[in-house]
Order: sequence, then structure tokens, then C-alpha cells
Amino acid sequence: MFSSVVNRKFTYSFCIFLCIVKSVHPILHPVVFIPGDGGNQLEAKLNKSNVVHYICEKSTSDYFNIWLNMELLVPIVIDCWIDNIKLIYDNATRTTHNPPGVDIRVPGFGNSETVEWIDPSHATSGAYFKDVANTLVSLGYVRNVSIKGAPYDFRKAPNENQDYFVKLKKLIEDTYEENNQTSVMLIVHSMGGPTSLYFLNLQSQSWKDKYVKNLISLGGAWGGSVKAIKVYAMGDDLGSFVLRPSIMRPQQISLPSTAFLLPSPLFWKPDEILVQTDKKNFTLSNLEEFFKGISFLDGWEMKKDTEKYQLDFKPPGVEVHCLYGTGIDTVERLYYKKGTWLDGIPTLIYGDGDGTVNIRSLTGCQYWRAIQKQKVFYEAIPNTDHMGVLSSNLTQQYITRLIQKNEVNLKEYSNDIFSFTQWLTKLFHHVPDNEQSTKESQSI
Ligand SMILES: *[C@@H]1O[C@H](CO)[C@@H](O)[C@H](O)[C@H]1NC(C)=O
Ligand SMILES: *[C@@H]1O[C@H](CO)[C@@H](O)[C@H](O)[C@H]1NC(C)=O
Ligand SMILES: *[C@@H]1O[C@H](CO)[C@@H](O)[C@H](O)[C@H]1NC(C)=O
Ligand SMILES: *[C@@H]1O[C@H](CO)[C@@H](O)[C@H](O)[C@H]1NC(C)=O
Ligand SMILES: *[C@@H]1O[C@H](CO)[C@@H](O)[C@H](O)[C@H]1NC(C)=O
Ligand SMILES: *[C@@H]1O[C@H](CO)[C@@H](O)[C@H](O)[C@H]1NC(C)=O
Repeated sequence: MFSSVVNRKFTYSFCIFLCIVKSVHPILHPVVFIPGDGGNQLEAKLNKSNVVHYICEKSTSDYFNIWLNMELLVPIVIDCWIDNIKLIYDNATRTTHNPPGVDIRVPGFGNSETVEWIDPSHATSGAYFKDVANTLVSLGYVRNVSIKGAPYDFRKAPNENQDYFVKLKKLIEDTYEENNQTSVMLIVHSMGGPTSLYFLNLQSQSWKDKYVKNLISLGGAWGGSVKAIKVYAMGDDLGSFVLRPSIMRPQQISLPSTAFLLPSPLFWKPDEILVQTDKKNFTLSNLEEFFKGISFLDGWEMKKDTEKYQLDFKPPGVEVHCLYGTGIDTVERLYYKKGTWLDGIPTLIYGDGDGTVNIRSLTGCQYWRAIQKQKVFYEAIPNTDHMGVLSSNLTQQYITRLIQKNEVNLKEYSNDIFSFTQWLTKLFHHVPDNEQSTKESQSI
């Protein structure tokens, strides 16, 4: 009796000690942020012989912030900006390059600041992974130690970003070592989804098992978006910033990342109408004619260069958490009224999504559930747009729950949420056949 009291007392104080130690130093899986299109800072240095307007600077003594820099996005100055940040396509090498005399670099690789804030002045409009990083800090994470950023030249698609994937691998390995050999969580946004999928599929399963704890995607554009079609037709602010679409268009259509974000043939049927006019309808099966119609055949070439990265949709082989906003009007089709053509102003026909990415693309990660053994979880965040998913309290709560292991509310995908799964299933060879998948859904 006596000894058991002592034992209990001892156990109790021992536990208090351990529990305190544990809550002060929980094992935290470090985080690497992988941003989407426009999701990190860029710097430029100029030594140009020609400029588009006399007010444009020809040369600078050092690098300056070119993205995001609101001061450069005002009338006239924006013409200089476009002439510096656009890319020029070379249809012989099938690559893009900066305009002559422009050098662009990606600052801050490895640190979190350049992906937390797209605008280095930290103006509110340039907040990006900031809220998620603050959530992590409140849980005991430390910026630059257990919170890292992996910015890249988001103007380009994976075909031209091969160096980035080498650097990203090293960053993940280094972060693992620096954090007492603890596997890394990849928190990605938008185009960071397909970009990280491509990266993970370059790695062996044993590398992923060792280094990657999970992939948390916020608004992942898994199957592209009709918004990219809208960008080619009329320009867009990409849901991110208060910029005039038509002014942005020449810059946006010059970027291979825009082609990479076109609706994927795995998610849109070949005959689904994307652009409707009274003379001709445009679908994925005659998209080349759309590019002819807007007189931008380089766009079609870039589409051909990047499509194989859309089609490579193998499961990532790591645990996935897919969070995405829903309930926001998202363009599904461009409708040009009778008597107008592609140079007119279309009516936008909307469907569900996060305002930038269509719902079928946001939920694309569900497909992997049937074909990888690592779990795939999801959470739809109602009435939240493409940028809002980064700051939403529900996102912060989900990430907090996940890190603190209170997984009570986490949902796994069920097979029957979207009939679209069946369409996807048909497109893949390595998917269970119909009989098996029927059996599987019955057992759920
Ligand atoms: C700027 O470009 C010119 C050629 O157009 C070259 O002669 C000059 O060395 C360059 N200046 C710098 C600082 O790179
Ligand atoms: C490349 O561009 C040139 C000039 O615009 C054009 O004449 C040629 O047909 C293009 N080649 C391909 C393969 O698109
Ligand atoms: C992270 O590192 C960068 C570059 O060295 C530095 O500018 C920044 O202040 C660091 N952030 C923190 C929170 O230490
Ligand atoms: C690192 O991990 C080892 C083994 O799990 C543990 O014994 C050690 O205390 C940890 N070190 C730190 C600094 O967390
Ligand atoms: C385009 O599609 C609409 C809707 O399906 C259809 O009514 C129309 O006839 C089509 N127009 C042309 C020119 O094929
Ligand atoms: C989000 O959480 C913060 C802090 O907990 C709270 O102040 C704010 O009201 C919440 N916002 C919404 C929309 O729930």
C-alpha cells in the first residue's frame, strides 16, 4: 500500500516532468513551403540597349525587387515592368529566356521570408505563407530552422526548372539533418501542387519514406484550370492581386507556367466546350485552333512542351492532405455572344471552385486514394477563395490538429464523392479494374 503510493507519486511527478519536457520540445516535423504561380519574390538586374518608353530604366547597378512590387504596376511604369519580366519563347530550343539585357534571380532560397511575403515591403497584399508560418511558430517552430521556403522561377514549367528540383532535394535532406533527422512536411499552394508531385515522382520510394512526412496541399491545381484559357483570351489577375487583366496579358501569355496550368486532358474530356462562339466551339481536342484564333501559336508550342508533365499523374507515394476552398464562382467556359469573335469580351460562365481553380482540379488528389497505400485526406473549406485558403482559420486549425496529432476530424476520401473518379479511372492503366473498384466501394 505504502509503496504503491510512493510509486504513484513518483510516477506522477515523473510524468509531469516528462510531459512538460514533451510539450516544450515536441517532435516537430520541419516544414518546406513550395509556392505556386507568382508565389515568391523575384529580383531583376538591367543592362538593356532598348526600352519601351523613355521613362523605363535601361540599367541598374544591382538587383532590385521586380515581383511583387506594387510601385511597378502603375500606368506606363507597368509597360517597363512587362518588358523586363516577360519571357521570350524560342521555338527551336523549345525554351524561354529573359529579354535581352535582363537578368532575373530568385532570392532567399531556403529561407521562409520570400515565400511568406511575396512583396518584401510586407504590404498586406503581398502576404503569402505568412499566416501558416505564424501558426507553425505558435506550435514551437522556428523560422529558417524548421520552417524553410523553396522559391523558384514560377514563370517557367518543370521542363525548364530542372535545377530547382536538384536544389529542392538538397534542401529537404539538409532540413531533415538540421532537425535531428526528422522527416519533412511539404506545404504547397496552387501550382506548387503539380510542381511538388513532379518532384516527388522523380524520387525513389525509399527516399520519400525517409525524408518526407507528408504533402499538405492548399488549393492544389492538380488538373490545371480553365482560368488559364481565360488568361490567353483576355488576361487575368490570377486571383491574387488587384491588377487590370488586359494589361497583364502580354506578360502572362509569355510564360510557360500558364501553359502548364491549362486544363489537363486527364480532367477535362476532349469534347467539353471551353470557349464558345457562334462560328466555332473550342475544346481540348481543337485547342490549337484556339491559339490560332488568338494569334498566339507560341502558346500552343508551350502547351505541347508542358503537357507531358500534366499527364504524368502518378500518385506521390507520401501521405497527402488536400485542403481547398469551394463555393466561389470559377470560370468554366468563355462565351462570346453572336457576332463577336475571340478579340471581343466574353461572358464568363461559372462553376464551383475557389475562384481560380475548378473544383475537379482541386479535388484531383482524391484519385490517388485507390492507387497508393499512403493515406489521402481532404478538407473542403467553404466560401474560401484561392488565396483565402492560405489565411483561413480552418486551414490553421487543420494544420494545428495534424501537428498535434488530434486527428479526430480528418477525413479520408471516399470513392463516391465525385463520379469524375470513374472518368479518371478509365484513363489510367494501373488502376484496379471495374470489378475490383466496385467491390472496394461496397466494402466502404
Ligand atoms: C552592358 O551590356 C553591354 C553590351 O550591350 C556590355 O558591353 C557591358 O559590358 C554591359 N555592362 C555590364 C555592367 O554588364
Ligand atoms: C517557329 O517560329 C517561326 C517564326 O515565327 C515560324 O516560322 C516557324 O514555323 C516556327 N516553328 C515551329 C516548329 O513552330
Ligand atoms: C532567415 O534568413 C534570412 C537570410 O539570411 C534573413 O534575412 C531572415 O531575417 C532570417 N529570418 C529569421 C526569422 O531569422
Ligand atoms: C534527437 O533524436 C534523438 C533520438 O530520437 C534523441 O535522443 C535526441 O534527444 C534528439 N535531440 C534533440 C536535440 O532533439
Ligand atoms: C457550340 O456549342 C453549343 C453548345 O453545345 C451548341 O449549341 C452550338 O451549336 C455549338 N456551335 C458550333 C458552331 O458548333
Ligand atoms: C480567426 O481566428 C482569429 C484568432 O483566433 C480570430 O480572432 C478571428 O475572429 C477568426 N476569424 C474567423 C473568420 O473566424
